[in-house]
Amino acid sequence: MDLLVAVGHSWEARLVERLSSVPGVVVSRRCVDLAELLSAVAAGHGDVAVVSGDLRGLDRESVAQVARHGVRVVGASPDGSEARERELRQLGVAGVLHPALETDEIARRLSEEDPDGIAGLALSGDDERPDLSGSGPVRAMRGPSVASAGARAGEGAAERGDLSQTPEVEQPRVVAVWGPTGAPGRTTVAVNVASELARLGRSTLLVDLDTYGASVAQFLSVLDESPGVAAAARASELGTLDLAALARLAPEAAPGLRVLSGIVSAQRWPELRPAAIEHVIDLSRGLADVVVLDLGFSVEDDEELSYDTDAPRRNATTLTGLAQADDLVVVGAADPIGLQRLVRALQSLPSVPSPPPRTVVNRVRAASVGPDPGRRIAESLQRFAGVEALHLVPDDPAACDAALLQGRTLAECAPSSSARDALRTLAADLVGVETRRQDGSRRRRRRG
Ligand SMILES: Nc1ncnc2c1ncn2[C@@H]1O[C@H](COP(=O)(O)OP(=O)(O)OP(=O)(O)O)[C@@H](O)[C@H]1O
Ligand SMILES: [Mg+2]
Repeated sequence: MDLLVAVGHSWEARLVERLSSVPGVVVSRRCVDLAELLSAVAAGHGDVAVVSGDLRGLDRESVAQVARHGVRVVGASPDGSEARERELRQLGVAGVLHPALETDEIARRLSEEDPDGIAGLALSGDDERPDLSGSGPVRAMRGPSVASAGARAGEGAAERGDLSQTPEVEQPRVVAVWGPTGAPGRTTVAVNVASELARLGRSTLLVDLDTYGASVAQFLSVLDESPGVAAAARASELGTLDLAALARLAPEAAPGLRVLSGIVSAQRWPELRPAAIEHVIDLSRGLADVVVLDLGFSVEDDEELSYDTDAPRRNATTLTGLAQADDLVVVGAADPIGLQRLVRALQSLPSVPSPPPRTVVNRVRAASVGPDPGRRIAESLQRFAGVEALHLVPDDPAACDAALLQGRTLAECAPSSSARDALRTLAADLVGVETRRQDGSRRRRRRG
């Protein structure tokens, strides 16, 4: 058992010595403060974190944050006082120990699940869905929402994927949509992939995390005043964000499609702190089968540009989204500048914690790259960025302009457009379902 210890100075050495004497236990890191503990768990270290109540900044949120990394949080007090134990339990630790305990008892408390603690439960939020009738969180059925898809009004069966062929979705997935600067179409892709996922029977939550130019609300005619992600982040900081609260902040923009709108004015980016964003994304998994994140373009780590490591970081939201994602869609524009930026973006990804990318080239047209644009683009991306598989989205100004003007999705206002068809295929590919083309023929898509 790999232990991370973050406790008060005066008795830390005594506790570490005691813990190290327990068979099977290795104290791999002695953290001087909470920040070091959080970064250690974020980097994937530790099975159990031992924390004391006098650790500066320790609160319910930080205990839950450690637990979200799959690390069990156990409290420690110097003397086993009941008052200290109670305080620690209120923070949601999974158990409490002290150095004077017998070795066997320490081993038991390090490994035993405690139903009273949130630390062991934080990860199980996936199984809870808010009861939309208003009576609070309830257990929800897992898997694709076939029933809700079937009940959806106004959609022909041929419009949707072949749900009889749909494999079970075991865990909610987070799909990050990211790409370089220059408006390559990240939001167009995020919005329409989210809408297609909902139409394929996957309840979907679209979260606007672009700290430079949030626009999802406009794309979907969601009220500008909608408090969205800033309110969710604030509630998280205050410890009042739960699934029901998140559901209230994320209205339905279309059947099966919820939207958590972005920050209304770009100057408000400091309101989005990484821990809160991580919490929001984590909780979002409990609200929908698929969570789609529309991310900003920059992945420069602004912490490295500042001496104040506690200062808010504008790109931390993007970095958090990338790190939390299960799937990553990278969008580039089909013109010489856009493709060069896309190559650089793909080259920068290995140094950023993120899932393997699926590359999308948007606005594909012969006028910007020459005849047979798809082949040319595929060849140059293969050559310069090693891209083997590519999704091409044709330039389709008529459909995209109409959608934007009406504040609706391509499926709603240009259902037979070429851009819609390409994005629907991408959505189906992400969840591994078979779709029908507009001509009725089938195509099989697998999650890669
Ligand atoms: N396939 C397409 N065909 C035609 N126009 C498109 C296509 N995709 C996107 N557009 C248009 O390009 C513009 C920019 O798209 P979008 O807002 O999605 O880009 P973005 O990468 O999110 O930009 P930003 O940097 O502002 O976040 C919009 O006017 C959109 O309608
Ligand atoms: Mg955008």
